[in-house]
Amino acid sequence: MTASINNASAADAAAQAMPTGTPYGTLPPASTPSARKPLSLPRLREMHTQGEKITMLTAYDATFAAVADAAGVECILVGDSLGMVCQGLSSTVGVSLETMRYHTECVAGGLRRSHGVAWLIGDLPFGSYHESKEQALRSAVVLMQAGAHMVKLEGGGWTTETVRFLVERGIPVCAHLGLTPQTVHALGGYRVQGKTDESAAQLRREASALQDAGASMLVLEMVPAALSAEVTQALTHCATIGIGAGNGTAGQVLVLHDMLGMNLGKMAKFVHNFMDGASSVRGAMEAYVRAVKDGSFPVNGVHAW
Ligand code: KIV
Repeated sequence: MTASINNASAADAAAQAMPTGTPYGTLPPASTPSARKPLSLPRLREMHTQGEKITMLTAYDATFAAVADAAGVECILVGDSLGMVCQGLSSTVGVSLETMRYHTECVAGGLRRSHGVAWLIGDLPFGSYHESKEQALRSAVVLMQAGAHMVKLEGGGWTTETVRFLVERGIPVCAHLGLTPQTVHALGGYRVQGKTDESAAQLRREASALQDAGASMLVLEMVPAALSAEVTQALTHCATIGIGAGNGTAGQVLVLHDMLGMNLGKMAKFVHNFMDGASSVRGAMEAYVRAVKDGSFPVNGVHAW
């Protein structure tokens, strides 16, 4: 009896002495703190001022967020595109604030546990900021308390005062113009925006007003390359992040599943499958970071209009 107790405790001790691996092999259990400095608003501003391209990818869970961070992606967007890629919806319109809160918390947890340094952006979903500035603040607080450093919201014009209201209350904001997926039904589909003189002028005006209201980033989606380059030059302290907007923006963003070639439908023109030639997901993300930094992705005329 005594011998078997001794054997059992010896086995426990041996198990404890073994290097621990997490079950399901996802995150490093207790990695040493990263040598990289955490991304911050001043650091992102510095990159913008110095003309260093900013890299952004979407992520919706702990593991992909930790891998993207380790690959050197500076900004992770918990996008409401999760409606399509995680929930199987046909648009982002059906995504709720509670779903965004849950995924933001998952990503924040992954970054925390892996000692990640990425800047985390939570997307305010359809209907969570449309009623009033106060509603927008309540929704933003939910995402910030789930671990976001910044919130993103779509549209110009009426959103400008909402952006100002949030920024005045210490919430960094990323705006989003061009193709705004939450209004896909009003826009009549996923189409390039700002093609006419009138719509281009409106986009220029809205971008400038959003900067004045305090937005520190602006996603430009499916906007002609020449127009987004012009808007980028005109904005001095708001960094444009393009998706289908050419290579003249201050940074780039792609939806994770698209850039990993996990799109079962027709790939959008602005997507490149970075798994081509990569032997791992991390390798694909590193290739994306390199290509954005050295300006080889996107290519105007291939990935943009
Ligand atoms: O929801 C999302 O992923 C986005 C990006 C496409 C910019 O808004």
